[in-house]
Amino acid sequence: MSLVVESDRGNDSTERELFQKGVKHLCEKGIKGVPRKYILPVPDQPNSGKGTFSARNLRLNLPVIDFEELHGPSRSLAVNSLRKACEEFGFFHLVNHDMPRDIVHNMMDVSKRFFELPFEERSKYMSTDFRSPVRYGTSFNQTSDEVFCWRDFLKLSCHPLSEVLPFWPSSPMDLRQAVVNYSTNTKSQYLMLTEAILESLGLVGTTTNENEKAEDLREFEDGSQLIVVNCYPACPEPDLTLGITPHSDYGFLTLLLQDEVEGLQIQHEGRWVTVEPLPDSLVVNVGDHLEIFSNGRYKSVLHRVVVNPTKTRISVASLHSLPFNRMVRPSPKLIDETNPSCYKDTDFAAFLDYLSSSEPKKKSFLESRKLT
Ligand code: OGA
Ligand code: NI
Repeated sequence: MSLVVESDRGNDSTERELFQKGVKHLCEKGIKGVPRKYILPVPDQPNSGKGTFSARNLRLNLPVIDFEELHGPSRSLAVNSLRKACEEFGFFHLVNHDMPRDIVHNMMDVSKRFFELPFEERSKYMSTDFRSPVRYGTSFNQTSDEVFCWRDFLKLSCHPLSEVLPFWPSSPMDLRQAVVNYSTNTKSQYLMLTEAILESLGLVGTTTNENEKAEDLREFEDGSQLIVVNCYPACPEPDLTLGITPHSDYGFLTLLLQDEVEGLQIQHEGRWVTVEPLPDSLVVNVGDHLEIFSNGRYKSVLHRVVVNPTKTRISVASLHSLPFNRMVRPSPKLIDETNPSCYKDTDFAAFLDYLSSSEPKKKSFLESRKLT
């Protein structure tokens, strides 16, 4: 471990101002140690407690869902695997998706170039308003987080596209086009996955007529989509901090594109397990809305990001939710006298209010929705 002089840890107001500018900026200043602002209490540090395992070491195979199989003659088998993955892991790899390679490649490439822009350019998009269509920032909630995460992000809302597009960064020049292409393609993967998920919950089936199916899917089509580009710079003391602290995602499903640097860990059977990057795949996870919609059958699982001493890691999360004004509640078809609803009805606005009023800790939002 490197020796760090206490004064490097940072305390005064100039340094607080510096932290507001993000981790990338901090690293460009050439720091040797992790400033105090980013040091987690010992029990929350990545290697304390029950230990962390690489999926390979644990011989744990994160389920792999084959998108082609979902749309081929063995669909019912694939839907079954999907059900098991959502029940037992809340996470899976999606392989053989039908997103064009160059669209995925350009999204990752332009994300890297955005974070390489001078701070002055990036900072034009800084905002602490949770409802802003573009938001560049650092940590999780940089106005209230007591300890900062080792992450900078660019959040772009994608719905409705024509309204939000003029707010997106104009540099790099190809960013808008790359994100339009990527977000429309992920949206269609999401809709196809959602159709399979409704089937896996027994809500639509082979006997459901097409009109009824289209009706069931319509509200997902109108749902919101948020693209979050995450940048986790190389960290001089990765054992003291986290790129993102344990959290669950609030939406229905998240589709995550990660580069070749590992860092994502999920909680499985009480342990932290690393999700190894699988080339050409997406990592998909169940969000809080789907946990509620499925009345608890599918789990919105805690996950976090660890950082490393040598490599910057980039990931692109596409968060898909129900429409802004739609109540989130268990599907009426899954509720009856013997299976009562386990959650309070929630709308998205209530969630945003919650987000801006307090620091989301772990699964506290979902916990607050539970009926006991
Ligand atoms: C997120 C998230 C994981 C990652 O953005 O919510 O969990 O690997 N990201 O960046
Ligand atoms: Ni997440």
